[in-house]
Amino acid sequence: MRQTRSFKQELTACFGQPVAENPTQVMMEAAFRHHGLNWRYLTIEVAPENLADAVRGARAMGFVGFNCTIPHKVAVIDHLDELGKSAALMRAVNCVVRRNGKLVGENTDGKGFLEALRKVTDPRGKVVVIFGAGGAARAIGAELALAGVSRITIVNRSPTRGKELVDSLRQNTGIACDLVVGAEEFVVPPNVDVVINATSIGLFPDIDARVPVHRPSILPQMIVADVIPNPPRTRFLREAEERGCRTIDGLEMLVNQGIIGIQYWSGIHANASVMRQALQEVFNSL
Ligand SMILES: NC(=O)c1ccc[n+]([C@@H]2O[C@H](COP(=O)([O-])OP(=O)(O)OC[C@H]3O[C@@H](n4cnc5c(N)ncnc54)[C@H](OP(=O)(O)O)[C@@H]3O)[C@@H](O)[C@H]2O)c1
Repeated sequence: MRQTRSFKQELTACFGQPVAENPTQVMMEAAFRHHGLNWRYLTIEVAPENLADAVRGARAMGFVGFNCTIPHKVAVIDHLDELGKSAALMRAVNCVVRRNGKLVGENTDGKGFLEALRKVTDPRGKVVVIFGAGGAARAIGAELALAGVSRITIVNRSPTRGKELVDSLRQNTGIACDLVVGAEEFVVPPNVDVVINATSIGLFPDIDARVPVHRPSILPQMIVADVIPNPPRTRFLREAEERGCRTIDGLEMLVNQGIIGIQYWSGIHANASVMRQALQEVFNSL
């Protein structure tokens, strides 16, 4: 009897602009191969004025889902059918999932960070300082508040986004939250448990840029995390390690949010080491 064979791949993607230097495809396709999925993850340049058509195209072609990156994380919401809880709280979507024919917007950035933190400590009751108030800080702040941390201090260079984030966290989650603006060198109070750089400070090529923190106030019992994936061992993390702290790097968050995306799309829990290894090879070859 003649056997049938399918030459059709399931499609996933990242929509962004500029997107050419985004390496997510490498770790996602490494996971697909590892788990025997004949799937593709396409890196697609989508201009803001074409976003509606791109989402319509993804619907028409039956994409399993797609990631959204700069500048589409907020704008994509208008083109979706539903939002998951944390995406609704943040009003930002980085992962779209097709469920029962509907496109549902999720936010996996903060969840990816939370997974990484949970490997080191239980977030409940923890006192947290977050540097930054952009997309990454919003995602992490919302997820930490939902996970039951007791207090969040946002430290941001400029007031507008900082105030918006603090107001949103207070109103939507009821968490104790305060804002410090433009601190030259923020002195971390000794009762803080977790210190997070969620700014873009330290991202390649500006790898010597300094997060504005007073080094001696970083104590060995603190957990110090950075969202910067490239380079994974940032100056901020190196200096925290020198002070005896446990650290979490940006690759952990990136890999974890990819794992959550694959789980949403396929139900498979992807292998973290395969994905991390694939990314590390890319960064080492740059
Ligand atoms: N590892 C991961 O999975 C992952 C996921 C998402 C994002 N990220 C990384 O997170 C970083 C931030 O992304 P985002 O989407 O949050 O960007 P964003 O929305 O543009 O926000 C950037 C934040 O950094 C602050 N900032 C930038 N340059 C600064 C400087 N020189 N001094 C002080 N503050 C500065 C900004 O302050 P103002 O408000 O004053 O401008 C803002 O709070 C990026 O580098 C991205 O690669 C990593």
